[in-house]
Amino acid sequence: MKVFITKQIPQAGLDLLQEAGISYTIAATTLSQQELIAQVKQYDALLSAGFVKADAAFLEACRHLKVVSLFSVGYDTVDIAAATRLGIPVGNTPGVLSRATADTAFLLMLAVSRKAFYNYHKILDGKWKEFEPVADLGTELYGKTLGVFGLGKIGFEMAKKCRAAFDMNIIYHNRSHNETAEAELKARYVSMEELLAQSDVLSVHANFSPETKELFNKEAFSQMKPGSIFINTARGGLHNEAALKEALENKIIWGAGLDVTNPEPMAPDNPLLRMPNVCVLPHIGSATKETRDAMAIMAAKNVIAGLEGERLPTIVNADVYQ
Ligand code: DGY
Repeated sequence: MKVFITKQIPQAGLDLLQEAGISYTIAATTLSQQELIAQVKQYDALLSAGFVKADAAFLEACRHLKVVSLFSVGYDTVDIAAATRLGIPVGNTPGVLSRATADTAFLLMLAVSRKAFYNYHKILDGKWKEFEPVADLGTELYGKTLGVFGLGKIGFEMAKKCRAAFDMNIIYHNRSHNETAEAELKARYVSMEELLAQSDVLSVHANFSPETKELFNKEAFSQMKPGSIFINTARGGLHNEAALKEALENKIIWGAGLDVTNPEPMAPDNPLLRMPNVCVLPHIGSATKETRDAMAIMAAKNVIAGLEGERLPTIVNADVYQ
């Protein structure tokens, strides 16, 4: 049994594959979709560690695959309905990256609130001269309201940190109620309109899908609380970048922290990068040694289960087994 891996992953996952007697090849470069199809045709499984677009055409061409294992919790790169129709189980890496990703959201929230990246650039640009009592003031977070859009595992971790660190009130909007968050964090379910109007910090943790595509657009930003901060560590496609820039320029919202951009990668001359109340990171939400090791192990376990004809431990399309 052989698995094709689209990018280098931590050794912990490779060791597991080896112990299970599965041979692997790691792509030497980023491949076009056609090149990838040509490669994958020679393998039994695909471990996708880059943003490979496994759309219906790709999956049709690779319908022999026994498993597609994603090195990510997000599965927006895969046409899940097509995979299910073709009988291909798709696995992802939920849970293990929740804390690291929430840390990144928290880091961005705090960095934005104190204009940290902008002030760092001031030093680099030789503009740190002397103490200025009223220059570049930030805003405090104590007792403010955190609004979570998509209160799943990552949103819960973010809410927990905000409550513990700044005694923030938690409101959220979800497809369903999160009873644990309501009990443990006194989180309050609100409508989307209330979430926009009441959040001092609005942190996005939802899946990207046709339903959530650019949900944070001009209309949504116009309904946000004046002085609020927008944080997105989920997928850049959830916000419309032009609308975000306009909302910041027109001071409809106060600041923004992005670990994901629309499009990705963000161009180095993007004006958002030089705005005082904006902090951008290059999609590093889960990028810690501990988390990436855990993701590699989980992705390898999905490959092994798929190749052994067993149910994937973390399956995205459970319907495939019906
Ligand atoms: C995820 O796991 O979905 C992260 O965004 C990395 O892709």
